[in-house]
Amino acid sequence: MGKSKDLHDGMRLKLDFSNVLESQVGTEKGITIKAIDNMSDTVRVIDKKLKKDRAEGRLQFMDLPYQEEVVDEIISLANEKVSNHENFLVIGIGGSTWGSIALHTALSHPYYNLLPKDKRGGKPRFFVLDNCDPDETAGLIDILDPKKTLVYIVSKSGTTPEPMANFVKYYGIMKNTIENYTEHVIIATDEGDSVLRRVAKEEGICCLDIPKKVSGRFSIFSPVSLFPAAVLGIEIEELLSGARYMDGICNQSEVWQNPAYMFAVLEYLSITEKGYNISVLMPYSRKLRHIVNWYVQLWAESLGKKKTGNGEIINAGSTPLKAVGAADQHSLLQLFNEGPFDKSITFIKIGHYENKVAIPCLLSGYNELEYLGGHSLEELIKTEQIATQLALTQYKRPNKTIILPEINAFTIGELIYFYEIVTTVMGELLNVNAFDQPGVEEGKILTYALMGRKGFESRKKEITNKLIKEKTFIL
Ligand code: PA5
Repeated sequence: MGKSKDLHDGMRLKLDFSNVLESQVGTEKGITIKAIDNMSDTVRVIDKKLKKDRAEGRLQFMDLPYQEEVVDEIISLANEKVSNHENFLVIGIGGSTWGSIALHTALSHPYYNLLPKDKRGGKPRFFVLDNCDPDETAGLIDILDPKKTLVYIVSKSGTTPEPMANFVKYYGIMKNTIENYTEHVIIATDEGDSVLRRVAKEEGICCLDIPKKVSGRFSIFSPVSLFPAAVLGIEIEELLSGARYMDGICNQSEVWQNPAYMFAVLEYLSITEKGYNISVLMPYSRKLRHIVNWYVQLWAESLGKKKTGNGEIINAGSTPLKAVGAADQHSLLQLFNEGPFDKSITFIKIGHYENKVAIPCLLSGYNELEYLGGHSLEELIKTEQIATQLALTQYKRPNKTIILPEINAFTIGELIYFYEIVTTVMGELLNVNAFDQPGVEEGKILTYALMGRKGFESRKKEITNKLIKEKTFIL
């Protein structure tokens, strides 16, 4: 499975955190080596706990990259289904879809859907319904021919209203237009008892398992996102190989040897010592824009918690913020450089882009433009990243950089696994449960009540009375 370790060493993700330190941004804004050293014992305790939790099966997401039989099953199912479908539609929400969107955007052609089929390697065009926006769903129904569409419905709980409503809508259309409609549908849901699993069984629809102890946003290396990735021609073995490689690196117990532990400690110190409650992730690649959306969900839903593990109210968390270089230099950077000192900024720097794109020397004689000729877009974007990093540091804004040698399935696997470990360690440092989402559940329950789900009648009454009593101010 995957290539050898030596072949991959040149693809190792690295973390440069020099510009977070007081030596670069001054004592007031920077983190001291001593402060990091002072965290060493805490990190060792966390490391021990995580290793125990993993050994006892409580951190199942960490073992997903090792499930060879699941990968074989996914690849053979994907191969069986792709040949007779023009379109592939994923229906889900949150952790059930961000992974597929992020992997596809990072690893497929930027204009994948517009390529002719042979240039897509014979793979279907890709669509996602991850909302319940009626205009979007109606628009997709307008353009997708159900006879030529493979539908993948992903819901761990099987009860989330948005994806289930979209599924029921599209499934109804399929039933009315195709004879063998169940062959055009695949379900992924919790491996235990979920209503969606019962639907799959009764309707005779193929069903993939989402491991019980893996929560949605940590499920990217399970069938949730691996099946779509395989359908779209992404090398899932390489992706998992990258994740395993990062697992090896993150196995180190010491903060100074483990980039994920160091990253978490720096974020933690930024929050607790400096009050930097906004965590910016800014890749210099549009291909990684949805990796940032995946990270935003992971960070926000895992760490934004009202209570500690002991039930004390702390309202913990830091707000993830998406920025994409170089475009957001012309939007957010002004705020990053001169606005409040409340952001911890992380760049993702790309060593080599797949394309260089030479800039021709066409406009000689125009002093303001001719310098661009003879360079490449790759040089320009890399220079912009360095320039932004330097400017932020001059403004005494702590910033760190994740260096990806290039964007490929292996390095994306590393990056994702890295962030999963960082988030898990952050949960421990902040003393919150990184794997539940009571705030999201509450919203779901209120929706059930207001939409008339059986068993939620008293909740509906309570909310309706509250809405009637409360004054509303609408201009
Ligand atoms: O990370 C999570 O657990 C959530 O974001 C879920 O993925 C999201 O709420 C969708 O849930 P489900 O897969 O049960 O439909």
